[in-house]
Amino acid sequence: MAEPEPIVLQGRTLPLEGRHVVLGVTGSIAAYKAADLASKLRQAGAELEVVMTPAATRFVTPLTFQSLSARPVVIDMFSAAEAEAHVEVARRADALVIAPATADCIAHLASGATPNMVTLTALATTAPVLIAPAMDNQMWEHPATRANVEILRARGVAIVGPASGRLASGRTGPGRLSEPVEIVGALRALLGATSGDFAGRHVVVSAGGTREAIDPVRYVGNHSTGMMGFAIAEAARDRGARVTLVTAPVALDTPVGVERVDVTSAEQMLAALAAATTESDAIIMSAAPADFRPAAAATQKIKKTDDRVDMTVEMVKNPDIIATLAGGGVRVGFAAETENLADFARAKLTAKRLDLIVANDVTAAGSGFGTETNEVVIFHASGESEALPLMSKLAVGHAILDRVAKLLRA
Ligand code: CTP
Repeated sequence: MAEPEPIVLQGRTLPLEGRHVVLGVTGSIAAYKAADLASKLRQAGAELEVVMTPAATRFVTPLTFQSLSARPVVIDMFSAAEAEAHVEVARRADALVIAPATADCIAHLASGATPNMVTLTALATTAPVLIAPAMDNQMWEHPATRANVEILRARGVAIVGPASGRLASGRTGPGRLSEPVEIVGALRALLGATSGDFAGRHVVVSAGGTREAIDPVRYVGNHSTGMMGFAIAEAARDRGARVTLVTAPVALDTPVGVERVDVTSAEQMLAALAAATTESDAIIMSAAPADFRPAAAATQKIKKTDDRVDMTVEMVKNPDIIATLAGGGVRVGFAAETENLADFARAKLTAKRLDLIVANDVTAAGSGFGTETNEVVIFHASGESEALPLMSKLAVGHAILDRVAKLLRA
């Protein structure tokens, strides 16, 4: 067996590790949510630096952000120490996130005016900029704001939200700051799009266990939770890919920026994947489609009548989805095994015309259904195999994508 390659999340073990993120906070009631965002950015591994407008400090104290970022917060453009710092902050940034971004801030960004440290940092940086607007719906819908937002979009500024809902004014409409988890997802997508090795690529991922109807209330299913597929979709998104995630029913949130297609049965999954893979660069088949389905689903609920002591459901074979799909680019399958891992995986690799197959022993500790981690062996069509250590499903996703990237370059 070949020596495993070192596992890297493109040099990181957390999604934002090694990234210097500058968070600009402007004066909106939503500024309190920026504290949660700052915390989530740190948890994702970012080195965080916070700049605030004087108005923002009236809503949340700089001490809050100083504690969360473990750095001094820059506010005053004119203090001697900070005058030097302002351009340095902009230079250090790998990304600038302005959350919340008020209508006033957006107007200044559009015109290039720099009345405060947040707008000044935006003008002085060459890093990608993401803004998360928050304001009253009438201000958001005003032609002046609409025009300013269009100017920023045309200039390449990424915009997340605003969400619709109840606003501080008591009105309902668009204007709520996006949730911190959405903003972090949008930032990860932006960093991928601007510096990821899958920028411009289309990756299709399948996830979850299909459900095959017995009658309108019952189905045949399996234990797949979809976690592995969702982690792959997230990793591909973080590396800049356009991602289509075709998923059977699962209890997971869609990663921000990922196009999700919901299906129920294996036949529906085949149709959705056939449509999604016409021009894809890679198909990663991590779903667990049922191999068999009830020959005919009853149209009405099957009743438990008194004279009935058993029940037989006649099953017919489902199509093998990945084997049926013609191309899709680099073809990656999974092999869930309980014994003879290498033999079964290699046989599937050949039979399904795959470039890679990711095999795991579903009975091993830490790599079964619903776990956060996985321990896999990757078999290549060229014959080599790599046993990877137990790691997070996100890291497994990156390990697979590292190999897909190599095949795409070849
Ligand atoms: N797969 C598929 N269509 C199916 C069944 C499986 O595309 N109807 C895909 C899976 O998504 C996976 C690979 O084929 O990428 C292997 O799936 P697995 O369940 O391990 O193997 P099977 O081919 O179903 O064989 P067996 O059940 O005999 O192990």
